[in-house]
Amino acid sequence: MLKTKEFSEKVVIVTGGGHGIGRGVAKMYAAAGASVVIADVNGTAAEETRLLIEQEGGKAIVIQTDVRRPTDVAALMAETKWKLGRIDILINNAGVSRRKSPYELSVEEWDDILNLNLRGVFLCAREAARVMKENGGGAIVNIASTRAMMSEPNWEAYAASKGGILSLTHALAVSLGPDKIRINAISPGWIETGDYALLSNEDHQQHPAGRVGKPEDIGRACFFLTSPGNDFISGANLVVDGGMTRKMIYLD
Ligand SMILES: NC(=O)c1ccc[n+]([C@@H]2O[C@H](COP(=O)([O-])OP(=O)(O)OC[C@H]3O[C@@H](n4cnc5c(N)ncnc54)[C@H](O)[C@@H]3O)[C@@H](O)[C@H]2O)c1
Repeated sequence: MLKTKEFSEKVVIVTGGGHGIGRGVAKMYAAAGASVVIADVNGTAAEETRLLIEQEGGKAIVIQTDVRRPTDVAALMAETKWKLGRIDILINNAGVSRRKSPYELSVEEWDDILNLNLRGVFLCAREAARVMKENGGGAIVNIASTRAMMSEPNWEAYAASKGGILSLTHALAVSLGPDKIRINAISPGWIETGDYALLSNEDHQQHPAGRVGKPEDIGRACFFLTSPGNDFISGANLVVDGGMTRKMIYLD
């Protein structure tokens, strides 16, 4: 797929790599020669990604992980170091989107989304950084969302979790810079993770870029931000949304 040596021999962890964007990103790093760790709460889905990678001649292992659980996250990093020797790249992708009226959103639901989408990113970054620091540095990409910056009704917990990721990204970039660890965010817009063929012309044409996004669009952005040659980029947020958040939508 990608004729480059810059990711061969690299160890890359993709959280939420069992489905959707995470699966696409995991497959792309494996195709580029990396050893990929698929860290997903859904072991069956993670195993499916591993098989797809193996069928394409790539290298991947599964470490079943619930990023809400600090002990799982610590075990993920320890097992990766034990089996693969180092951690070069972490893609903090695991997340859920739930839409509910703020009048009905319970404290438990709020906590669960924040613990998964935001605290999970912090825990994974903190534990991966301990290993990266030992092996001379690394790169972390946190998957946020354009919903960090714009809203439709009833997305409070999700929007807050993604906004938190953008703040966490620049804070970590400053704290971990001296350890040669770069942290950046990607804010995807609409990335179709189901059947792309079922999308309508209207779905595509509302985007200035003329189409809905695909997991590979996020994979290429991850490559850009984690490329060793781009080591002057840290603390950034790369919006990958086909231009949607630049479009005014006043009705005529
Ligand atoms: N698809 C989009 O349009 C879009 C847009 C903006 C941002 N995002 C973000 O991209 C990321 C991936 O989204 P997606 O659409 O591919 O989602 P998805 O639902 O297709 O896949 C998410 C994966 O994360 C795993 N996961 C869920 N909870 C987990 C946990 N506690 N621990 C570990 N893994 C867990 C799931 O099992 C699944 O394999 C999310 O952070 C999401 O918020 C997606």
